[in-house]
Amino acid sequence: MPSAHYQPLELRADHDHNDDDDDVVDLIERLDAEQHERWTSETGVQSQSNGRIRYHPQLADELPSMGGGMAASRYGRAGNSGFRRFVYIMLILLPVCFLIYFVISPQSQDSEDADGDVDPHNGIGKRRHIKLSLTTTRLTTAHYHPFHATIIASKSTHGSIRSMMGHALNESLHICSESHEDRRLYIGDKPRSAYAQLPVIYFVTPTYPRREQIPELTRLAYTLLHVPRLHWLVANDREGCDTFLDAQINGFGIPYTHMASPMPSEFRKAKPAPRGVANRRAALQWLHQHNLTNGVLYFGDDDNTYDLRLFSEIRHTQRVSMFPVGLIAEYAISGPVVREGKVVAFLDSWVAGRRWPVDMAGFAVSLSYMAQYPNVNMPYKPGYEEDLFLRSIGLHIDQIEPRGNNCTEILVWHTQTKNKKSAVVRLENRYMDERSNLGALFRLLERMGVARASESEGLVATISKNGKSKSHAYFLS
Ligand code: UGA
Ligand code: MN
Repeated sequence: MPSAHYQPLELRADHDHNDDDDDVVDLIERLDAEQHERWTSETGVQSQSNGRIRYHPQLADELPSMGGGMAASRYGRAGNSGFRRFVYIMLILLPVCFLIYFVISPQSQDSEDADGDVDPHNGIGKRRHIKLSLTTTRLTTAHYHPFHATIIASKSTHGSIRSMMGHALNESLHICSESHEDRRLYIGDKPRSAYAQLPVIYFVTPTYPRREQIPELTRLAYTLLHVPRLHWLVANDREGCDTFLDAQINGFGIPYTHMASPMPSEFRKAKPAPRGVANRRAALQWLHQHNLTNGVLYFGDDDNTYDLRLFSEIRHTQRVSMFPVGLIAEYAISGPVVREGKVVAFLDSWVAGRRWPVDMAGFAVSLSYMAQYPNVNMPYKPGYEEDLFLRSIGLHIDQIEPRGNNCTEILVWHTQTKNKKSAVVRLENRYMDERSNLGALFRLLERMGVARASESEGLVATISKNGKSKSHAYFLS
């Protein structure tokens, strides 16, 4: 699988200009169009013990540089004469159509002034020529309307978003509740107002119901409470809104949007499943819907560990900043290789042809930069989410801003929490009343998806005193 991306740096200066973006356009569009395509065992996806994904070499060949391999798979193998004839006809017809279009189209005479002037060739990884006025919009406190959290459960926002993005990234997004009010008086040792001029960090957290969900989000929230000018986008992978989670998030007092963004059902049973993708797509849609062109986007999973210095490091990202992530795969580290202040390569034990072999937590993107790429996307392709997302925003290696003292520090850790099924504890219903705390405790645990009490299932609850267990009736009746 030799490609320009594997040649020594000095040999590939010309190729760094994303010369294969057209193929990326094709690939990403095809991935979106073929969402329903089976890609588990048939496509050769294999699980890898360290939680990341591996593909059979055959598929890895197709994905990486997307040169000849992709062309072959997209247009069929050479020797298909009917297809070749079709291509010849199109080659003749297309220039004629373009000519007619440019002669009769009114915008062609005044394309500079047209609203939302878009490069007709724009697509994934292609840049939109946005007017300066858009990029200078600043989301200051004045634009930030404080309002109390409102539950807008089951209100689909998909229609309006589709029209803005050209394609909906998440078909089933529901905004559960949202608050732009920052109720913190002090952050660090300064009053909140001291930070008013900082760009906002949009911290996107995919999450999903399981017994560790509330503890993970609690830990994360207490980190985020130390971060000024942050909007927390919590996207939950489930149908409908979780009112308990809603109250929890609102209780922290930081600006947030809580949305329900379930993974499309056809991916649920896949092994591996595209984890957190529907959620991130929903958040991308929300950002587009709000036309945010100032601030920084960061994908912060609910189980990682974040050093507070990370937030200062990414805050002033111009285009895309990158930094090492600890505890990734075989090397326990993944991140850029930096020479003389420039990113020249990447260190990651799983390359698989990825141009950007980085973890989701290893980069941040400025919204003004991302706004220039209207076809930003994150396909449902396990293991390739970061790579294809970064390709969709036309990243060039020489544009990357290395952070964390030229990538010598570790400011984020890919910690993972052991997953266990929610517990069932055998306890008689008749004792679940106000005579003791147990009824209230188990009702809370059940709402959190941690555990539930049952009369007929689960391990019998052991209740003891002085090292001796006694019948439930002894303590509870
Ligand atoms: C690694 C990367 O760090 C993730 O960013 C990437 O999405 C993932 O691999 C992948 O490629 O599948 P890892 O720790 O292996 O992450 O995965 P999880 O932490 O289990 O899931 C990533 C995020 O998606 C988490 O925030 C999690 O809450 C969420 N998720 C997971 C869902 O929303 N739905 C699920 O069914 C599973
Ligand atoms: Mn994780």
